[in-house]
Order: sequence, then C-alpha cells, then structure tokens
Amino acid sequence: MTQDSSSAVSPNALDSASLRAVAIAAAQATGPGLRAAFRGGVTSREKTNAHDLVTDFDEDTERILADYLLNAYPESTFWGEEDTQSDSAGGAELEWIVDPIDGTSNFVHGIALFSVSIAATINQELVAAVVYDPIAEIVFSADEFGAYINDTKISREDDASQPLRSDERSLSLLTDYPSAEAIAEDGPLALEAFGDLVTTFATVRRPVSSAQSLAHVAAGWSDVWFGFGLKAWDIAAGAFIVQQAGGHFEAIGDATADTLAQRISEDDDVHPLTAPAYFALGPGVESETTYGWITRILEHRQRG
Ligand code: IPD
Ligand code: CA
Ligand code: CA
Repeated sequence: MTQDSSSAVSPNALDSASLRAVAIAAAQATGPGLRAAFRGGVTSREKTNAHDLVTDFDEDTERILADYLLNAYPESTFWGEEDTQSDSAGGAELEWIVDPIDGTSNFVHGIALFSVSIAATINQELVAAVVYDPIAEIVFSADEFGAYINDTKISREDDASQPLRSDERSLSLLTDYPSAEAIAEDGPLALEAFGDLVTTFATVRRPVSSAQSLAHVAAGWSDVWFGFGLKAWDIAAGAFIVQQAGGHFEAIGDATADTLAQRISEDDDVHPLTAPAYFALGPGVESETTYGWITRILEHRQRG
C-alpha cells in the first residue's frame, strides 16, 4: 500500500474526490449512534420475513445521511433503502444510492458484520463510493483515482506481475447464497451448489453483509463474492470500490434495457444498476466454479 496523494478537495464540487470526501464525512457522522446501539438490545421488526429485519436505527441513520448529503449537494437525488427519496427524482445529474445499514440482521443479532453504504453516480455512472464499518472504524472508499482503506490507497502494482490465482483450493469465497428465498426458489440445486462450493474453495463464509463482503474483496482480504436477488443499494458502493481496487465486478443475467424499464415501472426498488446476479473477483483472481454456478442457477430460474 502507498499513501494517498490526492489533493485537498472543496466540499461541494462535483468531482469524484470531493464526492468521496463528503460521503466519508456523512458516513462517519453515523458512527457514534451505531456504536452506542450495537449489542445494546436493538429492537427490530420483520420487513418481509424473519431473515429480513429493520430497526429504528436504519431509519435514523438514513435521515442523518440524507440531511448531510442533500445539505452538501442540494441539487442531488437521494435514493435510500428506507424510502428517503428527494424531490428531484430522475432529473438530477448527481444521485446518491444509500443503504444506511447493510447487514441489519447482523446488527440486530450483535454480529459485527454490517456497514453504511453510499455510492454517488453522475448520469448513472458510478463515480465515488464509501463502505463504512462503524465497529472496526474502517472506511473503504473509491473515487476516480483509486480505492482506499481509510487514508491509504490500495495499491495493486504488485498484483499485475503476479500469476493469475485460479486454484480455488487456495481461495476464499464470500456469498450469502443460498438464502431462505433461494432455497425456496432453486430447491435441491441451491444445496448442491453450496455443497460444491464448500468442497471446492479453501473457505466459504456466509456473512449476509454484501457491501462489507465486496469491500473485503477489494481490500484483498477475501477473493471471490457472488450474490442473487440484491438491490442497487446493497452493491453499488462495493462494486465501485472493487473495480477501483483493480478487481472485477460484473452484473449477470437478463438486465436488458426493456426488462429493466418494465421492472422499474412495477417496483420502486429497482434501479438501472439492478441485475439478477452479481459476481466479484479480487485483483488477479479467477473462479470458474463460481461463474459456472451463477450461470446454472440463472438458467434454472429462467426455465421456471
Ligand atoms: C441485506 C444484505 C445481504 C443480502 C440481503 C440484503 P440489509 O441487506 O445486503 O448481504 O444478502 O439480500 O437484504 O437488509 O441488511 O440492508
Ligand atoms: Ca442492504
Ligand atoms: Ca439496509
């Protein structure tokens, strides 16, 4: 790693370094409240089912972020999971895609795997991102110049000269697959996939914290990640951080313009970044087994 040498930024400029700096400050403003609440008996309610929880802290955190970001950029659109949407919907050049707590179930159960996720897009292109781990107090971020862990740039110069790492017996995989919904949808194929992955990889972990999993792949702390059935706010920030760290992020499946337009008109939670499946690799990593399973599961779902 090398020290970040990016220059000082002015708070309200519409360049990616400024957007990153403002997003970091917004995320850090939520840290004291989340740390104070964590493991303090957080009360939750079911959002869609017992695996999908929401708390007052999700809403309070989103309010802090919306106030901060819209105050810094009054012309921007804010798209948050907990239903905060600013008025300029669709018209603004700058859009914030925010998951105030990604990994709420972990937050509720006292498992320190959750994060605040903020992505900035300009004309629907990702330009800056922050994934903030408020318990470890680690800020993963990215702008047009690269990706960072706290103030330190993730340097991938060494990786370029290394041979491709494709032997899955030495790689670690993070995935939430199969969720209860995936088991219901994919049946025995879901368990076959999980069994094969657990057998093939050196380690498989199911963190149920997509933003943080992607940040860890970007950091080189894990190697491969994939996910199904995710929303744009789960993956937007982490995807950009992986890409800017020199890794690979791919949306997979039937995300053509037509089907997306149709799904957006039917469901407020669908964003142009939404796709049926996503796949991420750390720099210099390849994983044929993971890609094969994503393809097989998508084909299975298409056959209905
Ligand atoms: C969840 C996380 C998790 C994913 C779930 C999401 P939430 O977000 O992103 O990794 O597997 O589908 O719902 O509900 O904790 O913000
Ligand atoms: Ca989420
Ligand atoms: Ca959330």
